Amino acid sequence: PEDVGILAVEVYVPRTCVNQTELEAFDGASAGKYTIGLGQLNMGFCGDREDVHSLALTVVRGLMERHGVAYEDVGRLEVGTETILDKSKSTKTVLMQLFAESGNTSVEGIDTTNACYGGTQALFNAVSWVESSAWDGRFAVVVAADIAVYASGNARPTGGAGAVAMLIGPNAPLVLERGLRSLHMEHAYDFYKPNLSSEFPVVDGKLSIRCYLTALDKCYQRYSEKAGGVTLANTDYLIFHSPFTKLVQKSLARLKFIDFLRASAPDTAESATYAGMESLTGRTLEDTIGDKTVERLLVKVSSAEFSAKTSDSLLLGREVGNMYCASLYGGLASLFATTSIEELAGKRVVLFSYGSGLASAMYSLRVSTDASPKSPLATLASGCTDLLKRLKDRKTVPPAEFEKKMKLREDTHHLAPYTPVGELEDLWPGTYYLTQVDEKHRRTYARL
Ligand code: ACO
Repeated sequence: PEDVGILAVEVYVPRTCVNQTELEAFDGASAGKYTIGLGQLNMGFCGDREDVHSLALTVVRGLMERHGVAYEDVGRLEVGTETILDKSKSTKTVLMQLFAESGNTSVEGIDTTNACYGGTQALFNAVSWVESSAWDGRFAVVVAADIAVYASGNARPTGGAGAVAMLIGPNAPLVLERGLRSLHMEHAYDFYKPNLSSEFPVVDGKLSIRCYLTALDKCYQRYSEKAGGVTLANTDYLIFHSPFTKLVQKSLARLKFIDFLRASAPDTAESATYAGMESLTGRTLEDTIGDKTVERLLVKVSSAEFSAKTSDSLLLGREVGNMYCASLYGGLASLFATTSIEELAGKRVVLFSYGSGLASAMYSLRVSTDASPKSPLATLASGCTDLLKRLKDRKTVPPAEFEKKMKLREDTHHLAPYTPVGELEDLWPGTYYLTQVDEKHRRTYARL
């Protein structure tokens, strides 16, 4: 099959959010820390009515209904998540409830887990399946979904929640470019979840940022080499996994530094590209990680590239926060929600995926050139165009109420039996929600 890639994208974000300016004040953090320092506007969160299963059910049903895809036409279903509920049992099997009526139980794929990277591996698996001898001609569906919650403290404002479902097949308007995938995998304890009865990770924030940036350095250099000397200047769009958007701005800035280091004996044209970076001559990737002066300089000299190539992809990152596995794909949806398909047609989108622990990759999507009204590209964009409105229509709750709901989640997580108490008006119409956890921890859901 030709042009294997993404045919459609569906996004789900919680209806409730907390404002980061209000949260700063409530937490007693200095004014501007979460908003300017971390680059966050609002944070989406779920009460006790939602879990990763319900998020995945909602987003897959949304994808199938919006695009009129029949369940019998799906031959592979993959879930990337790090929100673990039934441990040995996958979220994928929970989703098979949606397929029951169609009678289609012949659906390959299970869950993939490594922090925020699972969605990317699920996508790679699905694309490989379509390109392989095992392919039976049907679609694949990839789900990236997570609820990102941290213990109260300095990591809490970097939470979020959301899900993205993608329809995968041939003749796609977003094609995964073959042979252009770079990877960096390494053993690190920067963020992990050893306490299986808690939703919270054990996280070393500073180490996780260092690991993220080191992985970015490696993946970008490898990707650029494979792609025949890609630089920021000749790349159209760059989307990054977004734990908080300031880190993404620093990441884009770092790529400019890598370009600078590689541009040996700069000619006049290159000197203009790297104007203002003279003081960085002789510096290395290793000795600049975490150097605030260098970071600030790089952010300054790359601000035009950031605005043109990356900022639009941070809509959900700023408004919802880290959605872990869904974060990178929420970035892709954000780009489509904010940029016309005429502008996107024919362009290359480079993506960087990072999951603590650690697994990372950089790869690219080629956007089809046909942006006509009934084109596959227009169909794909149609799943993203209402995102701005949906974000505006959310319920912003006061920080005190947010804290109360977080405490309820914490106290009742893995409680059995348990009947959720959260109000249904906090959910969008069409949302799946948890009705009951029985004494054997079995979960049942209903749809609003
Ligand atoms: N106005 C403006 N900026 C401010 C203010 C203020 N009043 N106060 C602080 N800042 C800035 C700081 O200077 C800093 O920016 P800089 O790094 O550019 O200098 C930024 O706000 C954050 O402040 P810190 O003191 O560094 O924040 P802290 O250490 O308390 O927490 C952290 C930040 C480590 C990111 C924490 O939220 C965390 O652990 N989050 C989870 C881990 C994470 O997201 N890791 C990323 C990769 S791994 C993953 O995806 C999970």
